[in-house]
Parts: sequence; structure tokens; C-alpha cells
Amino acid sequence: MSEEEKERRKQGISRRKFLTYTLGGTGGFLASVMLYPMVRFAVDPVTKGGAEAEFVDVGPVDEFNETYKSVQFSVKQEDGWYTPKEGTKLTAWVRKNPDGKIIALSPVCKHLGCTVTWEGNPQFKNEFFCPCHFGRYDENGVNIPGSPPTAPLDMYETKVENGRLLLGKIVPRTGV
Ligand code: FES
Repeated sequence: MSEEEKERRKQGISRRKFLTYTLGGTGGFLASVMLYPMVRFAVDPVTKGGAEAEFVDVGPVDEFNETYKSVQFSVKQEDGWYTPKEGTKLTAWVRKNPDGKIIALSPVCKHLGCTVTWEGNPQFKNEFFCPCHFGRYDENGVNIPGSPPTAPLDMYETKVENGRLLLGKIVPRTGV
């Protein structure tokens, strides 16, 4: 191979490399320009901070006593890109504790998300019961050791205004 040919080949390779880098770089840039909006759109609801939950009036506070009562109500809540017109239906187990304080518990089992009911199993009096895997919680919604749930039921924020009970957002309980 002559020196001239070697030189030509060398130039050919560097030209090829140049084209590879240029086209690769341009392709990568174009792909990122096209993909970014798609990815951003797909994860948007996840990255958006949730709007502050409003308090919802669930009735006169005097209607609650020391026995748990199931309360159904609707809240305006965005579910991803969808905001149901009729709102999202929620349930709370509400009672007035012996000290007069209102407690409002989420019915969503902390094991795998089934629905718990107050005294849902006649075998376990004064407890919340989850029928899916025999989950049990005491009267304060604290999980009973030895049953599947490993955390207490979440609680709703509560406040009383003008004799009416208002429920706010659901707050997980820690350190119970
Ligand atoms: S979902 Fe409630 S015990 Fe499993």
C-alpha cells in the first residue's frame, strides 16, 4: 500500500468518524427534543404538587357519639388528568372518643388496601376488621400485632366550625 493510499484511507476513516459523530449527535439531540415533552406529559401528574385538600362538612358534630359511624362524602380531587364532575367519593369511620375528641379514620386497610369495617367480624368485638386477610385494628385504628397490617389506619384531619364537623386530608400515622 502506497503512502498516498494510506493517507487517503486515513482521511476516509476520519471522514467516516466525523459523519458518525455528527449524525449520532444530531440524532441524539433530535430524539431528546422529541422525547422530553412526551416524558414530561406522561409524568406530569406525578411531579405536580397536590392541591391543598379542602375541608368537607359531614354534618352536625352532635350526631357523633362513642360508637363508630361510617360517613360518606365527596371531595374535588384531580385523578391524574381527570377530575370527576361528581367528585371523588370517600368514606371515614368517625366517632367521639371518651375525652370528647373526634377521631376520623380511613377505611383503607394498610395491608393491601381492602376496606375495613367496624366490628366487621362478630368474633372480634370493639375492633376494625379487614375481611381480605383477617386484618385487625383496635378501637383507635391501631393494627393488632399478629394480623397482616403493619401500620395503623390513616386519619382524616378534623375541625369543628359552628357545630359542624369538617374532614380534611388523610394523614398517615407515624410513631403509634
Ligand atoms: S388487605 Fe386487609 S388484611 Fe390484607
